Amino acid sequence: MTLTIVGAGYVGLVTAAVFSQLGNKVFCVDVVPQKVKMLKKGQIPFYEPSLAEYIDRNIKNKRLFFTTSYRESVPNSQVVFICVGTPPKSDGEADLSYLFAAVEQTAKNLKGYTLIAIKSTIPIGFEDDLEDTVKKYAKVKFEFAANPEFLREGTAIEDTLHPDRIVIGTASKKGQKILLQLHAPISGQRIICDIRSAQLIKYASNSLLATKVSFANAIATLCEKTGADVEKVLEGVGADKRIGRSFLYPGVGYGGSCLPKDVLAFIATSRHFDYDFQLLKAVDDINEGQIESFINKVKKALGLKGDIGNLSQVKVAVLGLAFKPNTDDMRDAPSVKIINHLLDLGAQVTAYDPQAMENAKRILPKIEYAKDVYSAIKDKDVMVVVTEWPQFSQIDLARAKKLLRRPIIIDGRNMFDREKVKESGFSYFGIGR
Ligand SMILES: NC(=O)c1ccc[n+]([C@@H]2O[C@H](COP(=O)([O-])OP(=O)(O)OC[C@H]3O[C@@H](n4cnc5c(N)ncnc54)[C@H](O)[C@@H]3O)[C@@H](O)[C@H]2O)c1
Repeated sequence: MTLTIVGAGYVGLVTAAVFSQLGNKVFCVDVVPQKVKMLKKGQIPFYEPSLAEYIDRNIKNKRLFFTTSYRESVPNSQVVFICVGTPPKSDGEADLSYLFAAVEQTAKNLKGYTLIAIKSTIPIGFEDDLEDTVKKYAKVKFEFAANPEFLREGTAIEDTLHPDRIVIGTASKKGQKILLQLHAPISGQRIICDIRSAQLIKYASNSLLATKVSFANAIATLCEKTGADVEKVLEGVGADKRIGRSFLYPGVGYGGSCLPKDVLAFIATSRHFDYDFQLLKAVDDINEGQIESFINKVKKALGLKGDIGNLSQVKVAVLGLAFKPNTDDMRDAPSVKIINHLLDLGAQVTAYDPQAMENAKRILPKIEYAKDVYSAIKDKDVMVVVTEWPQFSQIDLARAKKLLRRPIIIDGRNMFDREKVKESGFSYFGIGR
């Protein structure tokens, strides 16, 4: 098929890479000319393992094209995938301005029946407004579909080629057939449904993942109060096949471009349908509370008391900035809130992240950045781990102890072997143990 992918971000680029790899002719449209220029040369604007190889290969095979012009691609496409951002507004509702702009541009260039499949995560019930927008500009037949995306940054290509499920929400058999045909070479269970069910599947999935994280964090707090070990407790809980261990990990809270915003948007969209989603409000509250309790841990580790801690003489090394390992994505990363809190308390912060430092410099200009773990911790009072990059667990503890001013590790992801760290002469503070 000939396809247009609107939005060359994480979702759009990965979708374009995979569908072109599968033999389709794919045009990827973005409004940022600089980005399109880079992409034409095969340069990817963010870090995602193996994406560059796929893009490069398919540009060379002449199956993948980048453009700023809808006119160049939409008129010839059977399917237009909308993959633009739907970031949160200050009240938690999803900002749909990019979505409506993309749909308007698409509508102005439709030449015959086209399926407009929305991959962006959008609130329930916007299909009527979107249809009205298209009808304003196009006289041809068209229809909308909801085809929500579940890829994870860091493993996006693999997730797209081998997803657990493909959700196809359409209003007609025709739309359904087109999407089934297009996805035929991809494995995974097919969930065939109406548009609203598809939209709800996406919000419900992300919200349930967030709920598991907040539940793990609530259990961790209780473990700290009772003297239990959260790692053992959650191992025991997760061993039950009905529950499972995935996302049942305590830490500094969930972050990233999806979970925080989708939880808030789901609360907001539920409100529009007259449902007060109290469970998700608690999930969000617990997540917010993790940052403060982590800062209190830092103060306690340094011998300062609860509310009155002043960190003006303290030098902190923060390891990990991205919201999770294997990405350079800093959107809604817990590190930003933690570092800003530390700076407000007067601390001096030096950070290291294997991939995210360039992006972090724009958001956190007031801290120092180190070239590796060991230069980050040199002469610091405390080492704080915020993102669980696997290489951090390989740190040479003897060398680290010599470099740190005080041998204190605060492990915001419980990634270190607590006993080994203590035996190496460190004071160790994890989450919930
Ligand atoms: N990032 C993820 O891991 C992920 C996973 C699943 C679902 N999603 C959802 O997918 C959507 C996209 O997320 P993302 O992370 O890829 O966003 P992103 O910000 O990385 O990319 C969006 C792209 O759209 C472009 N754009 C904006 N307006 C445009 C327009 N009118 N025409 C053409 N291009 C335009 C932007 O320049 C940008 O390159 C969101 O709704 C998000 O919630 C994201």
